[in-house]
Amino acid sequence: MLRRPRRNRKSEAVRNLVEETSLSVKDLIFPMFLVDGVKKSVAVDSMPGIYRYSIDTMLREIESCMKLGIQAFDVFPAYPDSLKDTIASESYNPETFYLKALREIKKEFPEVCLMSDVAMDPYSSDGHDGLVKNGKILNDETLEILARMSLAQADAGVDIIGPSDMMDGRVGYIRELLDESGFTDTSIMSYTAKYASAFYGPFRDALDSAPKFGDKKTYQMNPANSQEALIEGGLDTEEGADFLMVKPALSYLDIIKLLNDNFPLPIAAYNVSGEYSMVKASAEKGWIDNDRAMLEILLSIKRAGAKVILTYFAKEYASLVK
Ligand code: PBG
Repeated sequence: MLRRPRRNRKSEAVRNLVEETSLSVKDLIFPMFLVDGVKKSVAVDSMPGIYRYSIDTMLREIESCMKLGIQAFDVFPAYPDSLKDTIASESYNPETFYLKALREIKKEFPEVCLMSDVAMDPYSSDGHDGLVKNGKILNDETLEILARMSLAQADAGVDIIGPSDMMDGRVGYIRELLDESGFTDTSIMSYTAKYASAFYGPFRDALDSAPKFGDKKTYQMNPANSQEALIEGGLDTEEGADFLMVKPALSYLDIIKLLNDNFPLPIAAYNVSGEYSMVKASAEKGWIDNDRAMLEILLSIKRAGAKVILTYFAKEYASLVK
């Protein structure tokens, strides 16, 4: 008898029955870029379809996303050079536009899950995620700044804090300060395995946050390594993370699976800017079908073991499946 696996593909209905992985708008977090000012919605050239919003236009955009079923948002601020310094002091200034905007979002939409970013780069005149001295990124001295930043964000009402800096020990350090300060309900989604990647290029354009010297290889992981992801996953679990994130997603599907197989925490994956822009650029040229590529990419990330996907496709996906 010839074995015929094609029988399970013979009709849409049968294919639906045997479909193993499903994707939902509820799995997605939409990363958004915030700028100071009013009535702004400025296109990010390297990310077609993505804008930098001022708080008023961002609130309307969030509202329209919520109508499509999106319930989680991750807001990243773009700061002008004039507000950057070596110690990222703007990051915990309670009057800074980022913290004010986070407050406003939670006030207008208390039901959304609001995530924030913790790292020095948007506020640092050196453009690095940590404190720089004599050309070196200092680990332990950075922790205090990250913790102050986290506390200010928790105080603004964010639901999930996202340390994206890759300093050692930061999850535990931040958890302890949050707990001591009464923010026991504020979650941490740790950027657990964040690789030194070429795929962050368009994001750094969007935020004007490229490092002023060198690269991020002394803190972000080497794309050649997977064992290290297990070390990072173990530490973040012990230190109290609520989610473990892998970033980027597509070149690291094996890492998503590795963490999912080894740790009981929910795994998140960041489908980063360069992964988004590659699809947009080739679709604009008519070389691939945007919607089919988007669906296949998001599904592959879910199939690999991510429960949560941060993706610039969130709104487009939600509109498509509506
Ligand atoms: C910075 C940060 C980066 C991203 C999220 N947080 C860039 C970097 O590490 O240089 C990248 C996101 C993307 O490319 O979509 N702390």
